[in-house]
Amino acid sequence: MSSNADENAVCSPLQIGDAAPDFQARSTMGEMNLSDYRGRWVLLFSHPADFTPVCTSEFIALSRASERFAALNCALVAVSVDSLYSHLGWVRAIHEHFGVTVSFPVVEDPSMVIGRAYGMLADDAPDAATLRATFFIDPDGIIRARLCYPATIGRSVEELLRVIAALQRVDKTNVVTPEGWRPGDDVLLPPYQDQVSALDAAGDTCWFHRTRPDQDTEAGK
Ligand code: BEZ
Repeated sequence: MSSNADENAVCSPLQIGDAAPDFQARSTMGEMNLSDYRGRWVLLFSHPADFTPVCTSEFIALSRASERFAALNCALVAVSVDSLYSHLGWVRAIHEHFGVTVSFPVVEDPSMVIGRAYGMLADDAPDAATLRATFFIDPDGIIRARLCYPATIGRSVEELLRVIAALQRVDKTNVVTPEGWRPGDDVLLPPYQDQVSALDAAGDTCWFHRTRPDQDTEAGK
């Protein structure tokens, strides 16, 4: 097999449930700390490099969806190893070529302090380009989910929104969300935790897959 950084990528030493490491950095919207966002959900995402096609398509789609993220009380924070001046040039070029104003801060990480803390760099990467890593951070600063894609594959904005909505839904009441769940869809009851409950279960078509209409229609809206 040929050497390929993506094949050997390790997405993050950080696990679901870990505190998201705080950082202070320059961004296209001024100096910022990650902890400035405490009390809001944060989608922290790395991109391999400025002025590249997949990353440009993501920035356009994320900016166009900014009101949908705001409706979920979710801030977007982008990061890459490129310099602040590169970020500013790219943001300006996206505006000029596509008429889209990038709606979120783009953090510079030239020393790779953030990239290393979050495991955004492939283990044997030939250069400093980060993976397409995404961290879903809750209002208490806890990592609740993460995604890791190779540089060549763009993320789905719909999926990012869906995961945030699903995390918010399961936080509200004791339900779990099935495959492809979207706000308003049926939810599932959590699995039984003991034999007595499992043997006593009655009245459902399938005792280990108990769907219910979602009573909480506000979730994720
Ligand atoms: C891109 O965003 O298009 C890209 C970046 C790095 C490597 C390959 C593609």
